Amino acid sequence: MNYKEALQNPIFKFISEASNNLNLDSYVIGGFVRDFILKRGDAKDIDVVAVGSGIELAREVAKLLPNKPKVQVFKTYGTAMLRYNDVEIEFVGARKESYNEDSRNPIVENGTLQDDQNRRDFTINALALSLSESNFGDLLDPFNGVADLERKIIKTPLNPDITYSDDPLRMMRAVRFATQLDFIIEEESLKAITRNNERINIITKERIIVELNKIIESKIPSKGFLLLEKTKLLKHFLPEITNLKGIDEVEGQTHKDNFYHTLEVVDNISKNTDNVWLRWAALLHDIGKAPTKRFSKKVGWTFHGHEFEGSKMVYHLFKRLKMPLNDKMKFVQKMVFMSSRPIVLAQDLVTDSAVRRLVFDAGDYVEDLMTLCEADITTKNPKRFEKYHNNFKIVRDKIIEVEEKDHVRNFQPPVSGEEIMKTFNLKPSKEIGIIKEAIKEAILEGEIPNEHDAAFNLMIKKGEALGLIKS
Ligand code: CTP
Repeated sequence: MNYKEALQNPIFKFISEASNNLNLDSYVIGGFVRDFILKRGDAKDIDVVAVGSGIELAREVAKLLPNKPKVQVFKTYGTAMLRYNDVEIEFVGARKESYNEDSRNPIVENGTLQDDQNRRDFTINALALSLSESNFGDLLDPFNGVADLERKIIKTPLNPDITYSDDPLRMMRAVRFATQLDFIIEEESLKAITRNNERINIITKERIIVELNKIIESKIPSKGFLLLEKTKLLKHFLPEITNLKGIDEVEGQTHKDNFYHTLEVVDNISKNTDNVWLRWAALLHDIGKAPTKRFSKKVGWTFHGHEFEGSKMVYHLFKRLKMPLNDKMKFVQKMVFMSSRPIVLAQDLVTDSAVRRLVFDAGDYVEDLMTLCEADITTKNPKRFEKYHNNFKIVRDKIIEVEEKDHVRNFQPPVSGEEIMKTFNLKPSKEIGIIKEAIKEAILEGEIPNEHDAAFNLMIKKGEALGLIKS
């Protein structure tokens, strides 16, 4: 492979010239080189290592660049960043690091390129291309990272116990890369992650979530979740999911393993949506099943109210993991809460009024809810599989039909409270609520269309019944 091709962006020539001016060597390293070899598209981040001061190199590069960009310096980390067109370039001095037991913050000393490569997470992330004028474009690959890229292997440059214990976030990164790139984590690494699983607890929730979201955004997220479970990492931050594991048996009656079912649902939905929050909803849709599981002789295993329980758990889970407690969380809650509604429709004969109620309750989320519920069909019985999917098609058609006719998606009462008060010469009172509810019910039941005149007539009738009109 001709690695010079990776360095066609003019920025590399400027870095090369700046390094020459300062009489130091510099290299582009890490994800940029890895992704070039994997042909993963144009990188937006470039990491540059200087054997010397990264900050000085960044300043020299900025001086040479025609647009004289601003250099952002992060003194505590000894790094600097500048933007060139739409790429971010980060500069750092080559370092030798050692870590202490209970912190991610290393003791840092200046080092050689080799020292810097030693301290990287994986062989595939330790690849460097020289930017020095004498050997511009040469590949420096002391740990056979290119071979690991070809063999699709995630492996640490040093003893994995040291690499993971130094920075336990790397255990998440190993799983994330394996999932994103469809690589295998090398056996020794896998064992070391399992041995060190407890150390994930020194990592902030925010950083764990960054990696977890990348796993969820992958093509086949279950690959990552199975690895997280196998290495015992998952229980530390998502015990709600590991609690779904297992099959109980009482008097010969069993229920399905909701952990594996959940992973199947997440994989299914990932074929149909890139919306990470909808994927989260798929991941969490059954979490209420662990605390609501009961067995009775009459009906066997039940999970009564698991949707409501699950939606409450979503809030606590988001809070604990420092995820946003905003409309995204509310969306996931709503999806979990409503997650059984369409499947009930798909099992029986679908009536217009049931569909109207579904659209009324789900509002603008009705399509997302349908996507979630279709992904939830994991039955291995081909007849039932076909029946449910066909019924979902009927439900989807009915949604469109009912919507065109009745517009109940973002329901606004066709007769306002004010109009009711004026007609019957009423002050605010509970009768108004009763009439409004009766109109809404009649529309949802399909007894009257969602129109003013029909609603007005019903209002008069109800008013009479309530004794508001003297006849
Ligand atoms: N790195 C590391 N240990 C970490 C994080 C990063 O050794 N915990 C090193 C790796 O060499 C990595 C480089 O720093 O390639 C840049 O890290 P980052 O930008 O986080 O990841 P990328 O490898 O660029 O991958 P991606 O862009 O997919 O996150």
